[in-house]
Amino acid sequence: ESRKKRARALAANRDAARFYHEYLKSPGGARVRDYIAQRQITPRTATRFGLGAAPDQWDGLIRALSEQGYTKLELIEAGLAVAGKNGGVYDKFRSRLMLPVIDVRGEVTGFTSRILPGEEGAKYLNTPETAVFKKGRLIYALNFAKSTKRPNLVLVEGNIDVITLHQAGFDNVVATMGTALTEEHARILARYTRELVLCYDNDPAGKKSTDRVLGILRNADLNVRVLQLPNAYDAAGNPLKQDPDDFVKKFGPAAFEKCLSGSAGQNDYKLDTLQQRHDLSDEEGRLAFLREAVETVASLRSPIEREIYGNKAAAAAGVSAEAMAQEVKRELARRM
Ligand code: CTP
Ligand code: MN
Ligand code: MN
Ligand code: MN
Ligand code: MN
Repeated sequence: ESRKKRARALAANRDAARFYHEYLKSPGGARVRDYIAQRQITPRTATRFGLGAAPDQWDGLIRALSEQGYTKLELIEAGLAVAGKNGGVYDKFRSRLMLPVIDVRGEVTGFTSRILPGEEGAKYLNTPETAVFKKGRLIYALNFAKSTKRPNLVLVEGNIDVITLHQAGFDNVVATMGTALTEEHARILARYTRELVLCYDNDPAGKKSTDRVLGILRNADLNVRVLQLPNAYDAAGNPLKQDPDDFVKKFGPAAFEKCLSGSAGQNDYKLDTLQQRHDLSDEEGRLAFLREAVETVASLRSPIEREIYGNKAAAAAGVSAEAMAQEVKRELARRM
């Protein structure tokens, strides 16, 4: 029974993706087509990612899929329709850019969707959790990235970041649905790659997510690196938010390739961010940095790593490697 429900939800989502994609090419899809062009996504890329347009109607999809034999209840259970208070049923997605979320086997499990410029409402709207749309284990574009010849996978925040990076030649880029990476995601990723490069937005939220994700990845069987995009500034010198999509459009694929090969190992990244948070020209700052660095270094699994990064932290703070090693040893004993 539940197997049948899953199959039905997958079929409905696949047929919905076809509907939205066809609608994109029709006169009613003009606004979304313009928006896709404005984001510098080519028609070829749009087709590869199955992009579509949801009509500016309350029941455009419901009417089309009802004709194909789906009941309203099935459409609700597939996350494509919602029940209103008055007993009516209407389309979940209206007047939006539609991005099908395809699982690693190529099945359409649901959608993420973006609002068009000038409209009111949530910028991104996703399918709710259904029998087949499980945010905690879906990885966007893994169906493509699983066959990359590149030596790693790159994890970004946004679906559009994924699309423009693939278009720029980086077929190893994936995203979770939002930044909430789970242990389950980590296990799945580890099946497809040895190395994961985190490339979240270069803004406070992206940095916070990076730290949280590094914590989750501690137990994963993955070599982890962090690609920090360079800071960008406006004409007045204020920092600009910059995500991989902005970056690759502004500076091109070669510049992104350079960032990718220059990405830091996770331990260097952690020590770097610690250093940035403290003033190492000041004694108090150095002590505060060292207290945190001792904890970071003590958390490393291998003695070799503890030696290498302990030495780096000691050098940064201008203390001896021996003193640092002793502190790390004390911290480890305390944790026993
Ligand atoms: N996201 C989400 N719900 C939101 C905002 C974001 O699920 N309300 C997820 C989406 O998967 C989105 C990703 O987080 O793709 C990145 O969000 P954000 O960086 O805020 O998107 P922007 O780069 O600002 O979006 P865009 O480039 O489309 O303007
Ligand atoms: Mn944003
Ligand atoms: Mn962001
Ligand atoms: Mn963006
Ligand atoms: Mn972004």
